[in-house]
Amino acid sequence: MIEPMRAVLIELDGVALPMAFATETLTPLTQTRLGAFVAEHAEDPDVEEALEETGRLLGGYDLQPGQAELVLLRWLKQNRKMTPLKTLQGMILRESYEAGAIKAELYPDVAAALKSWASAGLRLFIYSSYSRLAQQLLLSHGASGDLASLCEAFFDTSAGQKTEPASYREICERLALPPASVLVLSGDEEELDAARSAGLATVFIAREDGADSGHPVHPDFASLVLECSAEPPPKDKIADDLPAVGKTASFILETRSGTRQEITGKTGVSLMKLIRRAGVEELIAQCGGSCACATCHVYVTLPQGVEAPSAGAGETRMLAAASHRRIGSRLACQIKFDDAFDGMEVLVAPETPMAL
Ligand code: FES
Repeated sequence: MIEPMRAVLIELDGVALPMAFATETLTPLTQTRLGAFVAEHAEDPDVEEALEETGRLLGGYDLQPGQAELVLLRWLKQNRKMTPLKTLQGMILRESYEAGAIKAELYPDVAAALKSWASAGLRLFIYSSYSRLAQQLLLSHGASGDLASLCEAFFDTSAGQKTEPASYREICERLALPPASVLVLSGDEEELDAARSAGLATVFIAREDGADSGHPVHPDFASLVLECSAEPPPKDKIADDLPAVGKTASFILETRSGTRQEITGKTGVSLMKLIRRAGVEELIAQCGGSCACATCHVYVTLPQGVEAPSAGAGETRMLAAASHRRIGSRLACQIKFDDAFDGMEVLVAPETPMAL
């Protein structure tokens, strides 16, 4: 049974609509339309900015539209969530939805559930890898009319990775909601584990048969009867296994010019965010922590006897494409600060064009 909640944080892909919509409709649409769209909207400042940013991300190149298009298509093929690509995709989607060329194919139970949860007083939020514009377009162009207006806010990966507990904590902080009063609906075990570690309630939406999950499982939204809690839940409802939030530790950061400074930050927050918050802008972190740019490349020396957290497949792939890789190379956005790292040394890696 699901306890009364105050808000629902909903993933879209594979939860509110089939994953095939992205791979079989949205990606081919971008592939076929990108070149013509860029040519037709060459004077549009947003298009100009997206093309310029593509060159900047490549290492400061001034690209011709055709060259930028090739880079963008390659990123699309590699499923890389780069900001200029997401911007142009959103614009192409808007044009196609408005022309009636595509329709969002939400699961049939989604509209009724969102309406009933909203009318019960639950606050609805979306957290998805789609850009915020794409999320709003998806929810406002389905067969059931405008569902986007039922949602109070839209979060994309600029709010942090969905597999990081810190992202969920930050979202709750921004919404001024206690984590235990927010229910996360996802079809991804890792994301739900991260949300639960941050103290949020979780439900695995298993659109396919035979899902095995450590979270409560529901086959769809229709089977999920939710009540709204008027008051914040008592503190003892918060999961016992919350990581040590609020603990602090320090590390030494050395910039490319050799300046050293001590940075003190909360554990559980990504190293990239701590460095950026300390005002170190040479760590560009262009993709906002989505593990899609390698512009947060650093060299890490941990205190003796402390083992580095292992790099995931995405980080390993991005580092393989980054220049100046060496022992200690890591992506700062992929390392969660831990009090065991107190006293570690971090050096910002040279800025170089990525091997794309
Ligand atoms: S910020 Fe882009 S990979 Fe780390």
